[in-house]
Amino acid sequence: MMSLSAHKDRFHKSLDPIYGPGEVKSLFGLCCEHYLSLNYADQLLNMEKTLSSSESVQLDKVLLQLELQKPIQYEMGFAYFCGLKLLVNQSVLIPRQETEELVDWILKDCPDDRPYQIADLCTGSGCIALALKSNRKSANLYAFDISKEAIELAIRNSNLLELEVNFQLNDVLNDDYLGDHHFDVIVSNPPYVLESEKSLMSKNVVNHEPHLALFVPNDDPLVFYRAIAQSAFKALKTGGSLYFEINETKGNTILELLTNTGFKEIVIKKDLNGKMRMVKCFKPYA
Ligand SMILES: C[S@@+](CC[C@H](N)C(=O)[O-])C[C@H]1O[C@@H](n2cnc3c(N)ncnc32)[C@H](O)[C@@H]1O
Repeated sequence: MMSLSAHKDRFHKSLDPIYGPGEVKSLFGLCCEHYLSLNYADQLLNMEKTLSSSESVQLDKVLLQLELQKPIQYEMGFAYFCGLKLLVNQSVLIPRQETEELVDWILKDCPDDRPYQIADLCTGSGCIALALKSNRKSANLYAFDISKEAIELAIRNSNLLELEVNFQLNDVLNDDYLGDHHFDVIVSNPPYVLESEKSLMSKNVVNHEPHLALFVPNDDPLVFYRAIAQSAFKALKTGGSLYFEINETKGNTILELLTNTGFKEIVIKKDLNGKMRMVKCFKPYA
């Protein structure tokens, strides 16, 4: 039988070389909260408490997964995004902080709770669509993804959070999925990591997150941006806007692509880390 502090030492011994002590401290704190229902104060008060065998087994199990660099969100089965608790599994990308900034940008540009028509292309867990719906209850949200597992999970999230979004299984590289609908806002965080960047990425992303969500071929890195820009230009109302999350190295090329498609007032925005990570543009009045 081991005490909580002995487990903590074990976490640090095994994981510090991989994640660094600061990150391990917060991972251990999260595990105590989630698996042992101990908040930070309770953890400090119970450091010398001997854990039950099932509690010990649970912490050892998570430790093993963390040693394999499996993201803690997949292990726990949820992640937070814009204040929403979302189910995640290995069919979907773990929602990122920079994507929250994209949602904030849209919310600032759409300040009133009006019946906006909004589409989220490549929705994954449904994070963007659900966060928008939770902040703009009168908006009508549509969201698309090619992965059946992702759409199933997004629908579960929508039901759990009681946020109505019309999720549909569709390939955004096809032309016709938006039908005759006219949107005020179209947003997408499509796959944008080059195959050649794989070796530069951390193992916990490459080995565990879905490659369908991440990678694009080296010889056509903008395949999603081109297809989405074209369908969005047709499906947006005049004056409507398109928002993308982008690969920080592709800002200028995407600007050119959007200009050539007919979009105006193209703005590239840096994220909190100073990386060119988001773009927005308007469909001009004729
Ligand atoms: C970068 S992830 C973004 C997920 C989510 N929107 C987010 O921001 O966390 C890209 C998503 O695109 C989906 N996807 C990949 N190819 C697609 C395609 N041809 N059509 C529709 N969705 C696609 C993947 O399944 C994945 O969920």
